[in-house]
Amino acid sequence: MNYDDYLDLYKTKTFESMSLYFRAREIFPGGVSHNIRFFKPYPFFTLKSSGKFLHDVDGNKYLDFWNGHWALILGHSPPIITKKLRKQLKKGTLFGTTNKASLKLGWEINKAIPSAENIRFCSTGSEATMYAIRLARSATRKRVIAKVEGGWHGFNTNLLQSVNYPYEVDEGLGLIEDEGHFVESLQFNDLERSLKVLEAIKDDLAAIIVEPVMGGAGCILPQKGYLQGLQEFAQKNGSLFILDEIVTGFRFSYGAAMDNFKLSPDLFTLGKIIGGGLPIGAVCGRKEIMKLADATIEGDKSTYCSIGGGTFSANPLTMKAGFNTLKVLKNNHNIYEKINTLGEISRTGLSRLFSELNIDAQVTGIGSLFMVHFLNENVRSINNALDAALSNKEMLHNYNLALIANHNIFFLPGKMGAFSNANNKKDVSKLLEATRNIFENFNNKKNGKK
Ligand SMILES: Cc1ncc(COP(=O)(O)O)c(C=O)c1O
Repeated sequence: MNYDDYLDLYKTKTFESMSLYFRAREIFPGGVSHNIRFFKPYPFFTLKSSGKFLHDVDGNKYLDFWNGHWALILGHSPPIITKKLRKQLKKGTLFGTTNKASLKLGWEINKAIPSAENIRFCSTGSEATMYAIRLARSATRKRVIAKVEGGWHGFNTNLLQSVNYPYEVDEGLGLIEDEGHFVESLQFNDLERSLKVLEAIKDDLAAIIVEPVMGGAGCILPQKGYLQGLQEFAQKNGSLFILDEIVTGFRFSYGAAMDNFKLSPDLFTLGKIIGGGLPIGAVCGRKEIMKLADATIEGDKSTYCSIGGGTFSANPLTMKAGFNTLKVLKNNHNIYEKINTLGEISRTGLSRLFSELNIDAQVTGIGSLFMVHFLNENVRSINNALDAALSNKEMLHNYNLALIANHNIFFLPGKMGAFSNANNKKDVSKLLEATRNIFENFNNKKNGKK
């Protein structure tokens, strides 16, 4: 089979999804409610999910490696969580007032990550990073935020810069040029170059914000010393170091990646896993900084940072789902051992397979996160977002579509995969077999074999 065959197969298997997608385009821009959920030729429509599977409206069942934007560390709808949610549904979904469930989640996060001296919950990661930089600007009375090229911190306006290749071009309409002057980009994993940029802006540098492992840009690990170098620079120069742990928080161990990488950020953000499958974001950090958001202290507006939280912040459903997810993770440390091992054997298994099949590829990742990149003459290894952007993206899309169409294995095309507690070693074998089958087919076709 070649790519066109997989495309045809996908279309015949997802007829109902195709017609829904045409209708969706009439009501939603691009037919979706999150840009990345579109993939060519059109996304299938999901009917339900459970464990490690997504079921679409056409009756297909996919082994899911996307896991709800990598949020579902226990898999889809784990009964232990849905049971708690059913109980909470009877008591109320949104109180719009303070509640005890939020305290439980808050203190649990604080116990697991002591640097979360204070926490403010909100409903998305985008809000959390927006609040983090507003707090940083308040604490330092400086304006410029440095982020890395390709770094993804959600759709908040301030950080919607140098996200997609080509990085020097604006991300689109609606962004005011003047605002752009207060965001500077750094090259991930090039400390020398990053420090040069930082040196030039240090007098007005409020914060550096960075993901410990670049997620959306391609599952890219920091080189030894890079993050520490950024942190040291920020903290020496009266600026804040912000870690965006929205993907990495509680992903590799019971705590945050700052422990794995020996970092001590002034502020950090969490999201995804701590919501237990429901919407969440959180900005956390040093009390001294976070207390700027204390609106109960009387004074004028010049000493206070208004960060809010939002209508749905700390709603009891999310709080219960999040708290109970953390409880499961805390009481079952073997979950991390298991999913990190699955990540490891996938990375080594795929790497071996690609070299055996003479496919020029690199598999990146850490713990339970992993991603395949196809290399070309321009990109020989993946060290930053630019490398990932200039790698062979077309081949990656074709591979991902072939997995969906012929093997019922779902990665959101072009994005990294994540293991959840619902997975086991058989899933890795399935992925390896499917990958072998796809590339042997591609190769046979290239060599003129049927
Ligand atoms: C590192 C990082 N920060 C922030 C966000 C934004 O979170 P949300 O989609 O909940 O707004 C994401 C989302 O994927 C993310 O990966």
